Amino acid sequence: MSMTATGLGFAYQSSSAILDGLDLSVPAGSSAAVMAPSGVGKTTLLMVLGGLRRAQAGEVVIVDETSDDTARSGRPRPRVAWVFQAMHLIGGRTAVDNVAIAVLSGGMPRPRAEALARHALERFGVGELADRPVRSLSGGQCQRVALARAAVAEPLVVLADEPTANLDQDNAAAVAQVLVRGFPRSAVLIATHDATVARQTDRVWYLDHGRLRPVTLDGVDDAVA
Ligand SMILES: Nc1ncnc2c1ncn2[C@@H]1O[C@H](COP(=O)(O)OP(=O)(O)O)[C@@H](O)[C@H]1O
Ligand SMILES: [Mg+2]
Repeated sequence: MSMTATGLGFAYQSSSAILDGLDLSVPAGSSAAVMAPSGVGKTTLLMVLGGLRRAQAGEVVIVDETSDDTARSGRPRPRVAWVFQAMHLIGGRTAVDNVAIAVLSGGMPRPRAEALARHALERFGVGELADRPVRSLSGGQCQRVALARAAVAEPLVVLADEPTANLDQDNAAAVAQVLVRGFPRSAVLIATHDATVARQTDRVWYLDHGRLRPVTLDGVDDAVA
């Protein structure tokens, strides 16, 4: 398993529990969606899984099963990459610069970083936009650039928080599709209230009373909230 959580408990100060004995397992090379109406705790769950907040109970284990890969690249794979609703790209810089940043900051030489960045942009269907400033791109194109930035360093886990919330339905479905296919060696977890997005993943859970409940989306067409 690439990402496993057991018995997670979390509450903000005096408020009631957001996570209450939550278990989860996402194998490397698979994707999952967590659905819930706004305010139930999807973002909180991702923050606990990604180590941005500390659970008051339970543990999160992220395992790297790709030791051959470390040997090949000479660098360990990063544990977690984030994808957000707000893409946090640098508008005046090109797409390839925005993606290369993710590996340049780890000390990779620029020519190799740019080559990997171009390859990642191609994987997400925006290779031909590599040399355009991102402020000249559409929302859907920008989110593909942000996905390439998340992918370029080959993270073990991808945590995507409402990644398509700023996109129209057609773009949301297309971006969700490249998101679940574009990280073949990562564990991908998407928080969303959009069934169209969740339907693209290998499994879907509802976050409910602090735990995850498996659901099938047959017949569910609308956003949860
Ligand atoms: N920093 C915080 N301090 C206190 N309460 C918070 C904080 N962040 C979120 N909450 C509350 O926790 C609950 C879950 O929030 P969140 O995880 O953002 O839900 P979602 O992502 O599903 O919309 C909400 O009731 C929210 O108001
Ligand atoms: Mg949220």
